[in-house]
Amino acid sequence: MQFFLDTADVHEISALVETGLVDGVTTNPSLIAKSGRQFIEAIKEICALVPGPVSAEVAATDFETMLAEGEKLAGIAKNVVVKVPLTYDGLRVCKILSGQGVPVNVTLCFSANQALLAAKAGAAYISPFVGRLDDIGQDGMELIHDILDVYSNYPEFYTQVLAASIRHPQHVLAAAKAGAHVATMPASTLKQLYHHPLTDKGLAAFVSDWAKTGQRILDVAPSTKKTA
Ligand code: E4P
Repeated sequence: MQFFLDTADVHEISALVETGLVDGVTTNPSLIAKSGRQFIEAIKEICALVPGPVSAEVAATDFETMLAEGEKLAGIAKNVVVKVPLTYDGLRVCKILSGQGVPVNVTLCFSANQALLAAKAGAAYISPFVGRLDDIGQDGMELIHDILDVYSNYPEFYTQVLAASIRHPQHVLAAAKAGAHVATMPASTLKQLYHHPLTDKGLAAFVSDWAKTGQRILDVAPSTKKTA
């Protein structure tokens, strides 16, 4: 399963890229607004930081402008994925850009039928919003299962299911169990995946017991090593 970071915060991204666990990034207009950054500059920087796919979303909602915006965004870097909304015009843009070899992420997906249309339009990714469905009392994860079921009937579909609007580690686990190709999550959720109180407790005991032995594995700590 691939992990994408759902943020436009370049500092947050560069810190987590060091873990080697970040496969890509998704942004949206709200995340860009939150970052306070200039959109094109921020996407350029993120694309240079992350070798994997970086979703950059069009801002317009009409066909012509969305297409022109998508073409401009695709030109920013080789790893840009153009993100379009799951609307009639968004799917038309998806079909055209995909036909030109530009990967497209179709976003704001809330039904399996919408996901079916995105796959037929050649989307590289479909983004079902799990958390937002949960927010209105529906089961967001059921949608992930439904889409994977539908797609599995059609081997010619290559659209990857990108579980989006992930709010907590249980969403990540459920998406992984379902077989979603990608989960995009905030940095805070990715960090939460590391933590378990028994890991902390166990490590504290190991550190304290090791200290009692008076031994060292390294003669010199790495930070004090002289480099040639
Ligand atoms: C996905 O690409 C979206 O940017 C994102 O996951 C939306 O999440 P939210 O519902 O927490 O805003």
